[in-house]
Amino acid sequence: MMKKILVTGGAGYIGSHTTLLLLQAGFDVLVLDNFCNSKPEALNRVSRLAGRSPHIIEGDIRNYDLLNQLFSDYSIDSVIHFAGLKAVGESVIKPLDYYDNNVLGSLTLLQAMAHANVTNIVFSSSATVYGDPQSVPISEDFPLSATNPYGASKLHIEVMLQDLCRADPNWRIAILRYFNPAGAHESGLIGEDPNGMPNNLMPFIAQVAVGNLKELSIFGNDFDTRDGTGVRDYIHVMDLAEGHLAALIALDHHKLITCNLGTGRGYSVLDMVRAFEVACGKQLPYRIVERRLGDIAESYTDPTHAKAMINWLPRRGLEDICIDHWRWQQMNPNGY
Ligand code: NAD
Ligand code: UD1
Repeated sequence: MMKKILVTGGAGYIGSHTTLLLLQAGFDVLVLDNFCNSKPEALNRVSRLAGRSPHIIEGDIRNYDLLNQLFSDYSIDSVIHFAGLKAVGESVIKPLDYYDNNVLGSLTLLQAMAHANVTNIVFSSSATVYGDPQSVPISEDFPLSATNPYGASKLHIEVMLQDLCRADPNWRIAILRYFNPAGAHESGLIGEDPNGMPNNLMPFIAQVAVGNLKELSIFGNDFDTRDGTGVRDYIHVMDLAEGHLAALIALDHHKLITCNLGTGRGYSVLDMVRAFEVACGKQLPYRIVERRLGDIAESYTDPTHAKAMINWLPRRGLEDICIDHWRWQQMNPNGY
């Protein structure tokens, strides 16, 4: 019988792409999402692309009774846990919301899993747990630190997961630390649909390109990098989604996996602007402004550990990221 996967936050940006791949790979998928940062339409599109649908439950991961009900109604094999809040700036202003949604939400989910004896989980962590790294590329054994409540929430959850793994040998846990997800499914039907003004670079650039925003503000050109602008490891969201399937498979052989998911290549903000200009065939107006508080100069991974642990490497490059992101933005100028 095909395995059944509970995907929390499955209507979101990374969750919707992963749900699509899971359906295409033949898994049964149950999505739990409260739609606080996504729209049900994303899952309609996923169903259209897959030719079959996930079960969809509108609800909150902090609702223990609901989770118990789900685990007793459906025989779930594994959980992929995306649900959470992710805006760094907002986390500084509303820290308790972040501890509530992310830490308490994950704790509640783990308690319900333990109660139901479901002990396989893949968790969305972030490169933010490396704080301001001493050097690049970043490997998994670098020291961890948090510079904001969002990052702290991810670190707390990682510690909970590691403690659980130590305490009970039945658990199988993959902690995936994403670098910078970007791009969209090649159909242009699903992609990132931020609420209001985008916080992150790629959706901002795409909205400038489509004419929703006037110009890009580049946060500083005096970093110690090639051209002075910040360098990041942009990873195609479909490669990232594939990383989750690879992690699920690898959990058959490993009890605890902690992996960076990135490409191993760093691109500057100006590299990204130029690559997007090629993809969309327009010049993109930008202005250099002050650095954003808390931004680091450079972040990119060393992908060798991911290759060894989960037998996964990204296949798509910068050009694919820009072409696919632009297709999604052009086909959906105002999102879903
Ligand atoms: P997203 O906001 O698009 O998706 C998160 C989904 O979770 C949304 O559909 C939202 O409605 C849902 N959700 C939030 N709180 C919930 C709750 N309490 N109960 C039920 N559903 C809830 O974000 P994303 O970019 O797809 O990110 C997914 C995960 O990956 C998050 O945990 C995020 O912190 C992590 N991550 C994201 C990035 C990134 O840059 N996108 C980088 C590193 C890590
Ligand atoms: C963001 C998150 C971080 C998370 C990471 C990976 C913030 C502050 N941090 O970081 O926690 O781990 O994604 O998903 O959101 N930039 C501009 N102009 C803009 C937007 C961004 O110049 O309008 C620059 C930034 O200074 C940075 C680069 O673009 O150099 C990427 O920024 P962004 O997309 O926000 O990602 P990160 O800062 O890496």
